[in-house]
Amino acid sequence: MVHDLDYEQFPEQHCRKTEEILASENWPAEYIRAAVSHGWGICTDVEPRSELEKVLYAVDELTGLVAATALVRPSRSVMDMKAKSVKKKWKDRAFAAGVNREVVEKGASMLGVELGELIDDVIMGMREAAEEIGLKGDPDVSG
Ligand SMILES: [Fe+2]
Repeated sequence: MVHDLDYEQFPEQHCRKTEEILASENWPAEYIRAAVSHGWGICTDVEPRSELEKVLYAVDELTGLVAATALVRPSRSVMDMKAKSVKKKWKDRAFAAGVNREVVEKGASMLGVELGELIDDVIMGMREAAEEIGLKGDPDVSG
């Protein structure tokens, strides 16, 4: 789901610039709204309402924590990682300090799911794309 397309070029106008760019490219309004709402409370006041918006809001920050957790494992992989490992790092606020845990909690509660369940889903999703996102790890090392 497209969402950070303006970040590198226009960090100060994050989300607002996305709206402008996607609108000029005639993207469907529901996609534009979803992209903008991922910055709710941070760079926009557009609250996630649809399922798509809530999922994007909830998992965007969490993928960062899952990736960071995978990268400090011996296997450097999400393939053999469990939610438990991520939960341990969740409590360590100095680890991946840029990951806004409050946003993830808010997102999980919007979706009506437990944090552990959300982490499980994110790990599963990232396994599917592990090769492309560089988190398949080294097959010779087991974690
Ligand atoms: Fe963003």
